[in-house]
Amino acid sequence: MSELRYDGQVVVVTGAGGGLGRAYALAYGSRGASVVVNDLGGSFKGEGNSTKAADVVVDEIKAAGGKAVANYDSVTDGDKIIETAIKNFGRIDVLINNAGILRDISFKNMKDQDWDLIIAVHVKGSYKCARAAWPYFRKQKYGRVINTASAAGLFGSFGQCNYSAAKLAMVGFTETLAKEGAKYNIHANVIAPIAASRMTQTVMPPDVLENLKPDWVVPLVAVLTHKDCQETGSIYEVGGGHVAKLRWERSSGLLLKADDTYTPGAILKKWDKVSDYSNPEYPTGVADFMGLLEKSMKMGPNDKGETLNFKGKVALIT
Ligand code: NAI
Repeated sequence: MSELRYDGQVVVVTGAGGGLGRAYALAYGSRGASVVVNDLGGSFKGEGNSTKAADVVVDEIKAAGGKAVANYDSVTDGDKIIETAIKNFGRIDVLINNAGILRDISFKNMKDQDWDLIIAVHVKGSYKCARAAWPYFRKQKYGRVINTASAAGLFGSFGQCNYSAAKLAMVGFTETLAKEGAKYNIHANVIAPIAASRMTQTVMPPDVLENLKPDWVVPLVAVLTHKDCQETGSIYEVGGGHVAKLRWERSSGLLLKADDTYTPGAILKKWDKVSDYSNPEYPTGVADFMGLLEKSMKMGPNDKGETLNFKGKVALIT
């Protein structure tokens, strides 16, 4: 099988000075892409900054014969990172929103600054980078985005309320980018990785970490960001050689007549139906829910003669 290549493409990897970001950057650099290695070079709690983290990775890519340039801005100034790609390489094809920090603390003890910093780096940072890349993607009718979620976001995690909120935000963000980007061949996917890094080295035993090399996350990201890949709007768990896709599942649910009989007691009486997954559905958009209502409800016209059209518009009955 021939190697997946990225020749002539420009890839921006945020937080590429260590951990997963470094692994992505080295991989793209070795497969023909020009890489912007962004890293603020702070601690895993988001303190301090240094140019060293990004510089070391740029040197590694160049030493192996690849093309790379460093950027030291915070992802919250994502426009400057994309500008580095345009100034040095004239384009941007792939954006890997990877930079991240932790501020773990129980919800009881959480302070505004723990919350704000996590939301700023993960949510605003991913937004700022994607927003700055978007006009280039649209114009060239091509773009690939990877956003980084976490199991903590998908399922919740003790002491990580801020991080969980930020990481699940990446799912909604990705799903909408995928929808808005479809017409322009811009694909966005989101991964919940697991890998040994400075972020996980204090919470997992060494023998487990040994089997969770960042390199084992790279192949999926490479596949999803390749020009031939048509996947978009999808969620993946990836790590230690395992790759799996996740999706939303909805119980067939309880459908009662929306009138005076629709009371708390009426729901309680048929509570089992609410969480009955024996005949599930796999919704992918708001329209799925609207369609379900449309089927079940007979909506009459209002006093202006309008009726609700479940495709999102108010239609006049004529
Ligand atoms: P890491 O701490 O090794 O790497 C993160 C990098 O982002 C660091 O080099 C750091 O300097 C950089 N960074 C932090 N704030 C930045 C900012 N404002 N601007 C630019 N760069 C910044 O951590 P790791 O494990 O490689 O994490 C990468 C991503 O994967 C993060 O988004 C993390 O939340 C996510 N993740 C990692 C998991 C794991 O098992 N390692 C699990 C789930 C999610």
